[in-house]
Amino acid sequence: MTNTRKSIHGSWSSRLAFVLAATGSAVGLGNIWKFPYITGEHGGGAFVLVYLACIAVIGIPIMMAEVMLGRRGRQSPINSMRTLAEEAGVSRRWSWLGWSGVLAGFFILSYYSVIAGWALAYVFRAISGTFTGATAEGIASIFERLTDDPERLMGWHTLFMVMTMIVVARGVRGGLERAVRFLVPALFVLLLLLDGYAMASGAFDQGLAFLFKPDFSKIDANGVLIAMGHAFFTLSLGMGAIMVYGSYLPQRASIAKTSITIALLDTLVALLAGMAIFPIVFANGLEPAAGPGLIFQTLHIAFGHMTGGVVFGTLFFVLLVFAAWTSSISLIEPAVAWLVENRGMSRVRASVLAGVATWLFGLLTVFSFNLWAQFRPLGFIDIFRNATVFDLLDYLTANIMLPLGGLFIALFSVWVMKRGDSLDELGMRDAFGYRLWRVLVRYVTPVAVIIVFLNVTGMVDFSGLLGLSG
Ligand code: TRP
Repeated sequence: MTNTRKSIHGSWSSRLAFVLAATGSAVGLGNIWKFPYITGEHGGGAFVLVYLACIAVIGIPIMMAEVMLGRRGRQSPINSMRTLAEEAGVSRRWSWLGWSGVLAGFFILSYYSVIAGWALAYVFRAISGTFTGATAEGIASIFERLTDDPERLMGWHTLFMVMTMIVVARGVRGGLERAVRFLVPALFVLLLLLDGYAMASGAFDQGLAFLFKPDFSKIDANGVLIAMGHAFFTLSLGMGAIMVYGSYLPQRASIAKTSITIALLDTLVALLAGMAIFPIVFANGLEPAAGPGLIFQTLHIAFGHMTGGVVFGTLFFVLLVFAAWTSSISLIEPAVAWLVENRGMSRVRASVLAGVATWLFGLLTVFSFNLWAQFRPLGFIDIFRNATVFDLLDYLTANIMLPLGGLFIALFSVWVMKRGDSLDELGMRDAFGYRLWRVLVRYVTPVAVIIVFLNVTGMVDFSGLLGLSG
């Protein structure tokens, strides 16, 4: 049946606006901060390969499914899932999928905002020329001084949450659309510049080999889960962010083309970031597995030594803040849309309420880097022996909640929803494309997610098949 629903929140002005907004959501700290540091921690090439495979066979099909569900439901994920479940004649309880997404978004934004706060702080450090000519140790100590201080972290975290609330309060077209239009292109230019520096700095080959030469003995089952979780994280999948953006998408836009474009842009940004960072890591004898501080400790070496480093460094961190900003709004939008729909709140009130709650919860992350830096809540479990509260929150959301959310989105789209409805909403005239999507979402995604989960919990061991280390 053809869809005639409309969103009460308005819609994007065009397909391009949606591509920009969804790219803005996808491209963020995940690409520039998280991808390099987890790649460094998991040995490089093999990890990258698993991540790329997950983007192609899980990420793109799930993105199409999410956009489709959102556009068909035309409401917040909670209400869209309920409406679509009714339409398909199954239990309305599918709306809990929306709820778990709201919860995941809340958890993610709580730490995302703290890290974005680091980027904000670095804008001011870069402007004042703190890094010019600094050594690797000097730069590392600047980073530690920032993260050791709970008050400073809290201040930057507060500023970033306020910024997020302002844009969310202004709504779909007002704030969002305009920001991304120049952001994404500008980010590309700066990353290319950094890659140019990395190329000239001497260890480019080593950096590339680290990123692209797979050595499967360096990755274990947990590493595979993290690579898969990151595919969800970096594409903003599995919690309803893309679904709620899809609910503002004009009816005729092609979902397949759009999703592929977004995934390609997102992947390109991550790879460009990796290609800038690892050559600097190796050229300066740094540790690839340095953890969450990696980009804050490496890029400044580049900015500290290139001509115009103050300008470029400042610009880079400004762009990073923007990239984080356009992502953070999508993390909170499902909750805000629901508060407006079901609690009759104004967007302003809803944004403030959701923002303040997230801010409070974010203090857990603030303290993970200083007061609680030695606190290991799940230290008795091997893979979590060094994990702080922040690490656990990140693991729970990216590697468990998002893939599970994605799994149920997949199951709903092809096992519950009527074939005719998904075909109509995806509007794919090309029968082969539709069938390929269906096979991927029906079998490949669920099986892959389940295997990876079972493997990590140790219930089943498939590692031998891939030649993984354990
Ligand atoms: N994809 C964003 C990044 O890479 C983060 C993000 C925004 C996100 N919205 C999301 C992650 C929804 C998971 C789910 O920085």
